[in-house]
Amino acid sequence: MRTPIIAGNWKMNTTVVEAAELVKAMKDKLNQIAGVEKVLCPPFVSLTAVRELIRGASIKLGAQNMYFEKSGAYTGEVSPQMLSGLCEYVILGHSERRGYFGESDQIVNKKVRAALATGLTPIVCVGESLKENEAGETISVVTRQVKGAFEGIDSPKGTVIAYEPIWAIGTGKAATGVQANATIKVIRDSVFRLYGDQIARAIRIQYGGSVNSANIAEFIGQPDIDGALVGGASLKAADFLGIVEQTAKIKKTG
Ligand code: PGA
Repeated sequence: MRTPIIAGNWKMNTTVVEAAELVKAMKDKLNQIAGVEKVLCPPFVSLTAVRELIRGASIKLGAQNMYFEKSGAYTGEVSPQMLSGLCEYVILGHSERRGYFGESDQIVNKKVRAALATGLTPIVCVGESLKENEAGETISVVTRQVKGAFEGIDSPKGTVIAYEPIWAIGTGKAATGVQANATIKVIRDSVFRLYGDQIARAIRIQYGGSVNSANIAEFIGQPDIDGALVGGASLKAADFLGIVEQTAKIKKTG
């Protein structure tokens, strides 16, 4: 049994004060929901404040990115060493990083290696663009991204993969549960080819892209979907709580 995981990717939103308010608005209720791993990924500057607020609660913390070097003259960057001890998870290879900041599969691979070497758990994002989708390239794109991310890595440890079709991110046009499950199965097959049956069965794969409390059930009801990476809806306490609550209920009975 894979424990479902819902992660909130706040992206470049919330000041430190707003981040604290958002946490306070959902912390107690989130804490009470069992059977789902809950992860908040605020901006770097709010990690320390959020960490203090969730101390003792069953809520985990993640960063949205990091650099792969340990330290040095890399102005503006944050290293895995700076994050370890502060948070448990780190989102890597998000399509916004790939698209706006030129992160290639090779860079994502270096980051995954560095995160695992430092004891951080990566949430590795993969997903095709609208153009690639329409050209029938979804399978080849996600297969290449998964292979690229794990190149030369002996074990992915607890790594989580997030399948996020770019055309569904922030657009309000989510994939269907059936579509997402089919691609996630392809991703699980790629993991099988890299690491064998045991790891392929155990690895958790989320869906991401316009997930909210009104459509989460459609995804969570699918056998290969182990949770969600939530952007916009994670900035609204009631919506995020609804997503986590429904996930707990559906995975418990399903
Ligand atoms: P969205 O973003 O939920 O706002 O579509 C998801 C993501 O980019 O992780």
